[in-house]
Amino acid sequence: MIKISPSILSSDFSNLEQEIQSLAAADADWIHIDVMDGCFVPNITLGAPIVKAIRPHTVRIFDVHLMIRDPLAYIKDFTAAGADVITFHIESDSDVGATIDAIKVGGAIPSLSIKPATPAEAVFPYLDRLGMVLVMSVEPGFGGQSFMPVSIDKIRAIRQEADRRGLDLMIQVDGGIDSTTITKCAAAGADCFAVGSAVFKAADRAAAIHAMRAAAEKVFRSDLD
Ligand code: DX5
Ligand code: ZN
Repeated sequence: MIKISPSILSSDFSNLEQEIQSLAAADADWIHIDVMDGCFVPNITLGAPIVKAIRPHTVRIFDVHLMIRDPLAYIKDFTAAGADVITFHIESDSDVGATIDAIKVGGAIPSLSIKPATPAEAVFPYLDRLGMVLVMSVEPGFGGQSFMPVSIDKIRAIRQEADRRGLDLMIQVDGGIDSTTITKCAAAGADCFAVGSAVFKAADRAAAIHAMRAAAEKVFRSDLD
């Protein structure tokens, strides 16, 4: 139920094959892949050819987080490259409904993300068509930033609305997640966690992943009415 999705943004890019296999061996549920275009965010990372290149090295779910200005133009490339879940931003320039449809046509799970300044209610019109919502708990662009508590109320609001509609929606949080912040998010109803620094800085990645997953499972939904 709880999924830990280590972000390869924090990995050794010269050795991606080994990094991916090490995350799978450490019992990561998903692999979080941060795609940045230097326009939507002030950083450039990787694109669909890299996703395709690492695809043969694990069967884990590829959780692709597009921080790009025009996601709709690249959905086909990422589904063809082997993305399983594709998250794009409501603040991007693409039409949200058309982008959700393109992700579904490509056989992937559509997910919509909101930056820290965007209210939870912004995703409500699309909830019934989504498999996941990603609540950013830092400004997207870089790993290693501090968790912003403003995300907790937004997670709760989205979970309550999904419950009200009877939706089986995943809620992911991304940015500054560690063994402390994960419990606050899980208690508010988040069940999926993109984690960079807290996995990659750990001496024992498997232990870090297991500890975070167990901490989240213990308190999941405990902060909901
Ligand atoms: C930031 C990325 C995150 C980042 C998380 O824009 O979307 O996925 O890698 O890294 P940490 O866990 O270090 O905040
Ligand atoms: Zn991310």
